[in-house]
Amino acid sequence: MTAYCSENTMITVNDLQFEKYIPAAEIHQCVANVAAKINQDYAGKQPVLIAILNGSFVFAADLVRLLTIEHEIHFAKFSSYEGTESTGAVRQLIGVDLDLTGRDVIIVEDIIDTGTTMYNLMPKIRQMGVHSLELCTLLLKPGKLQVPLDIKYCAKEIPNAFILGYGLDYDNLGRNYPDIYVVKQ
Ligand code: IMP
Ligand code: MG
Repeated sequence: MTAYCSENTMITVNDLQFEKYIPAAEIHQCVANVAAKINQDYAGKQPVLIAILNGSFVFAADLVRLLTIEHEIHFAKFSSYEGTESTGAVRQLIGVDLDLTGRDVIIVEDIIDTGTTMYNLMPKIRQMGVHSLELCTLLLKPGKLQVPLDIKYCAKEIPNAFILGYGLDYDNLGRNYPDIYVVKQ
């Protein structure tokens, strides 16, 4: 259960080796670009951002500090498991106990892979009487997407590979790295 950082571009987390893939400076530029779009699109509004835990906590923290518009940030988790089996569906939202009626809501996600998670979550939020609902993700793997998903804000598209760092984990490790790493083939 070790996560350790070697001097430069390689890290080992549990049984896997990862190499540096997106340096922190590039991530921050991508985040700044998304923040600028949100600042423009929501000028004069007061959106509610809902960051999906755990993975999006680093992205959300950087994003909100680049927002100049008035906004709220909340955090939500959801359970998609029945016993030890994933149902593939969102069963229960945990933490969205605020009144979203008439609000402009932006879901903040770390990464969209197959899209199943967001495909199941978005209708649940929409049912809460929101005025508008948009999706903002740090990363998207377009080659893996299996469902139709309207993604208004995407900071960066990446190929089909497993990554970690900047909030993203492998077996709950590696979220702390400021850079993003890709698994070594
Ligand atoms: P989806 O439902 O297939 O789109 O999966 C989305 C979730 O899977 C993300 O919120 C992440 O928690 C996790 N995930 C997908 N790809 C990766 C990855 O490359 N690294 C770490 N977590 C990932
Ligand atoms: Mg996630």
